[in-house]
Amino acid sequence: MAIKRSANSDHSHQKAARVPKSQESKMVSPTATNQEKETSDENLRPHRLADYIGQKDLKSVLTIAMEAAKTRGDSLDHLLLYGPPGLGKTTISLILAAEMEVNCKITAAPALERPRDITGLLINLKPGDILFIDEIHRLNRLTEELLYPAMEDYRLDITIGKGKSSRTQSISLPKFTLIGATTKVGSLTSPLRDRFGLIQKLRFYEPSELTLIVLRTAEILNTSITEDGAAEIARRSRGTPRIANRLLRRVRDYMQVQKKPTINEELAAEALEIYQIDEQGLDWTDRLILQTMINQFNGGPVGLEAIAASTGEDAKTIEEVYEPYLLQIGYLNRTPRGRVVAAAAYQHLGQTSEEQLSMF
Ligand code: ADE
Repeated sequence: MAIKRSANSDHSHQKAARVPKSQESKMVSPTATNQEKETSDENLRPHRLADYIGQKDLKSVLTIAMEAAKTRGDSLDHLLLYGPPGLGKTTISLILAAEMEVNCKITAAPALERPRDITGLLINLKPGDILFIDEIHRLNRLTEELLYPAMEDYRLDITIGKGKSSRTQSISLPKFTLIGATTKVGSLTSPLRDRFGLIQKLRFYEPSELTLIVLRTAEILNTSITEDGAAEIARRSRGTPRIANRLLRRVRDYMQVQKKPTINEELAAEALEIYQIDEQGLDWTDRLILQTMINQFNGGPVGLEAIAASTGEDAKTIEEVYEPYLLQIGYLNRTPRGRVVAAAAYQHLGQTSEEQLSMF
C-alpha cells in the first residue's frame, strides 16, 4: 500500500539508512502479504540523498541548504517543488526529513478543507519538522491565509467565537519547514509563492539515469535484468521514475509467465508492446490525443477543452499528466491559439503533416 496521503500521515525518520521499523508499520496495511510488502512503492524509494539518482542540480542546491541549516542549528527554509507527476517530489521530502533527522508529515491540499485541518497539523509539529503539502496550488483561501503567518513568523492566528464576540488568538509554532509540491506552479498565488525561500523544478530524467533506477529497483525486487533490458524499459518510461518502476513490474510479470530467467532487451520490448507502450513510451491515451488532434482538428491549433471533449479524457489530466511529456519530446507545441501537433509526432505515428507535405 502506498503512503496514505491524509492530514495525519506521519513519517518519523531515524539515522539509519533503511526505513525504520516504526515507519515500516505505517506504510503497509496490517493485512499486506510479504509479496506486497516486498514490492510496495515505499520500499523502492531511496532513503538518502546519496542513493537518489538524477536531479543533479536540485541535489546540489538541497545539499547546500541542509548543510547551512545544520551548521546554524536551524530548520530548512520553506521549499516549493514543482514539475510533472512521478518525478520524486514526495521522495525528496522524505529524504530531506531523513537527512535532517526530523519527522515528515504528508498531506495534500484537498485534505485541508476546513481551517482546523491545517491548524491541527501545525500545532502538532515539533521543532524542525517538515510538513509536506501536495497539490499546494489547490489550497482554499482560508487555509492559505492561515499559512502566511505560520510560514513567515511561525505564528498561528486563530479566530475564536463567531460574530461580534469573536476574537483572534495567536499561538506560537515551532520553527518548521513547509514543502509544497505542485504540477502547476503558475497557479500559485504570489503571496504564497513568495514565502518559499527555495523554489525548485524537477526535470524529466535522462534515459541513462532511468536505466540506473530500473537496475536499482530490479535488485530490490530480486529480479534478474540485463543492462540492455533496463535501458529498454528506461527508453519507454517518459523520463519518469514512477513509470519506469511500474513498467518494470509489468515486464517482470511477463517474464514470470513466460518462465524466462532474466529480463533482456528483447523480452522487455516484447512485454511493453503487449501493454501498448511504444518505443517512445507513448501509451494508448497519448496516441489517442495526438490522433484526435490530427483527424478531427487538422493537427490544431485546438483548445484543451475541445481535445478533452473529443477524447473523453479529463482536461486537467491531459494538461498535467499527458501534455508535459509530449511537449518535452517536441510532439506538441503550445501557441496562443491552442495546441498544435508537431511534425515529429506525425512521423512517429506514420502520418504525413501539412507541414511535411509543403516541403515537396
Ligand atoms: N526510485 C524512484 N526514483 C528514484 C531515484 N530518483 N533514484 C533512485 N531510485 C529511485
